[in-house]
Order: sequence, then C-alpha cells, then structure tokens
Amino acid sequence: MRTWIRSLRPFDGLAVNSEIAVHSLIDKTIDLREAERFIRLFHAENPEAGNLHDRLHQVVRDVSRSGTYTHTAAELEFGARVAWRNSNRCIGRLYWRSLRVRDRRKVSSAEGVALECVTHLREATGEGKIRPTITVFAPDTPRRMGPRILNEQLIRYAGHRRGDGSVVGDRRNVALTDLARSLGWRGGSGRFDVLPLVIQAGSRVPLLCNLPGDAVLEVPIVHPEYPWFASLGLRWHAVPAISDMCLEIGGICYPCAPFNGWYMGTEIGARNLADADRYDQIPVIAGRLGLDTSKERTLWRDHALVELNVAVLHSFEAAGVTMTDHHTEARRFMTHLEREEKAGRTCPADWSWIVPPISGSATPVYHRYYDESSLSPAYVHHRPMV
Ligand code: ARG
Repeated sequence: MRTWIRSLRPFDGLAVNSEIAVHSLIDKTIDLREAERFIRLFHAENPEAGNLHDRLHQVVRDVSRSGTYTHTAAELEFGARVAWRNSNRCIGRLYWRSLRVRDRRKVSSAEGVALECVTHLREATGEGKIRPTITVFAPDTPRRMGPRILNEQLIRYAGHRRGDGSVVGDRRNVALTDLARSLGWRGGSGRFDVLPLVIQAGSRVPLLCNLPGDAVLEVPIVHPEYPWFASLGLRWHAVPAISDMCLEIGGICYPCAPFNGWYMGTEIGARNLADADRYDQIPVIAGRLGLDTSKERTLWRDHALVELNVAVLHSFEAAGVTMTDHHTEARRFMTHLEREEKAGRTCPADWSWIVPPISGSATPVYHRYYDESSLSPAYVHHRPMV
C-alpha cells in the first residue's frame, strides 16, 4: 500500500535552505565552457553522433535565448555513465557502460518522483539480480528548480531517538527520521524501519511517501556455521540507491537523479552493521563468539568483523541477491584501471575510499597511488537539505 502524506506544517530548516537555493538561482545561466567541453567529449567518444559543430551552434543559441539547453537522450545516457566512470570513490566502475538510464526529465512533481522511485526500485531489484540503474528527473533551469529527494538513499532505516538519549535503529539517519516525523510520519520504533521518501518539489511543503513492501527487498543475516547468528535479528536491504547527489553534465545540474549499483559485502559487514556510530554489532558478536575482549591484542574486534562479513556474504548469496566481495571487486578495479589507461584516459580515484575497510593490504588496490583530479560529468553533493 502506498500512502501519501502532505504535511500541514512547513519545516523550518527547509525554509532556510530554499532561501539559499533561490539565491543560487539568480545567476543560473549555463556555463557555456562546460557545455562545450561536454558536447566535445560526447562527440569524441561517440563518432556516430552527428555533426559536432551543428550541435555546438545549437547549444550556444539555446543558452543565449533561454539560459540553458536540453541534452539529447543519447547525451544524457552517456553523461550519466561517464559520471559513474568519473566517481573517484567508487571501486565498482568496471561496469560503467552497463548503467541503465531511465529518462524521466518530464517528471517534476513530488508525486511523480515518488511513483518513479518506486518503479526504479522494483526494476533495479529484479528479484535479487540487481541492475545498476539511474532515474533522471527534471533539471534545474534558470526559471525553475528541479525536484529534490531529501533522503540520502531511497532505502534508509530509521534512527529513533529515545528519551534517555539512546537511539534505536540506524544512528546515521536520526536527522532524517526527525524530519519525517515533523512532517507527519507515524513510523514504528524498531531497529530496521524503512523511512518514507521525503521529496521537495518547488516551494511546496515536502511530500512523504511510504515505500511499498514489494519495492524493498531485504536479506536476513545468518551465518553458515553459527545458528545463533540469526537470533541477532540483523538484516539489510538489497539495493543501495544514492538519492541526494546531483548529476552534473555539461553545466546542467540534475538535482534529482537516484542511482544504484549492488553492494560490496564490506559496506554492510564492516561499516553499516559494525561502526560504533551505526549498528555497533562488533562487541555483541564477539560476546556470542566467546572471545577474550579484556585486551585489544587478542584481536577480538578483527575476529568478530571477519565473522560478520562472512555472514553478510553468505546471506546475500543464500537469498539469491547480487553482492560482490572486496577481493573480487579490487581485482576488477585493477582491470578497470588498465582498460582506462589503454583508452588513453586518466582514472581518478580516492585511495581512502577505494581501499576496503577490512583487509586493505590483502587487496591489490592498497599498494599504489591514484590520480586525484576530479572530472566532469560527475555526481556531486550540493548543499545538504537535512
Ligand atoms: N556505502 C553505502 C551503504 O552502505 C552505499 C554506497 C553505494 N554503494 C554501492 N555499492 N553502489 O549503504
């Protein structure tokens, strides 16, 4: 069941942010140099695309008339894929060409965005065979701001703040949970409650949309050897879909362009369920394993971390949900680097993000340096809305 809630009370934080947003709209004419750079890149890598100079003239004419221009479907698809190729923090870029691009630039209402996000999740989840997908909504233009999703990802678990200051659920999402409540969400109080989408379109009060159950595939975490592991009650969602980054292509900003890949086990096993400021499960697992936690040098943390990561990888595999491990993905990334070099391109990368959070030095990505430049098209964080 899908439910809409349009809150009656405007949210103060947003009022402040939309003021900033209005200011940044004052000079929102497209930077022609960026537009030209992108159109040239598109034609260089797509020789079948037609006449470069005709297209450049058209873009210049459109920008001088309206302050902006419109990407062709092929330019949009290429731009979204290259933005992935340029993502310094992503180890999974080998498959950048396979990104499915859903062109929904005509959609700008909050209700329209909500419906399309639900369809995105269903299609990308594919009953476990996850497909990297992006849905691109209306861009910012000099006349109108595009819609925005205030959630960091389409699927996020609530962090419920309790009277005594403790938090039930994902601490990372406490602010979003508070925001959803202030807008009228009547969520539960559990550790894994999926938050509603919070969507801002125009100057209207944000729309809340509860995700229907069939759009959110989840995997219960079990261990191949320890039956007690299931009783920890851990789970995670199958699809990581980033929804708060802008897709920037040739000077145009698409502020609402949720995209997903599939998970690498360590994102869940070595961070989401493990970090002390997330689900903090390492001491719990160490206790159940009967490890000596009286001193650090027993390496009880490391031991528990490995078992949690074994459990995450095993559970996704048992559930038939696409997931990669950090050793395989690190090797693929080395292949990607080679391919990019052969194609005569630099492949920028951020070492601190590329190296996995466990067993870094056991993977090849650890033992080298990377080009640190930033390229465009790109996925970027603009002002935080929450
Ligand atoms: N690390 C984030 C999370 O755990 C997801 C980031 C994107 N990850 C991906 N495999 N595409 O939710």
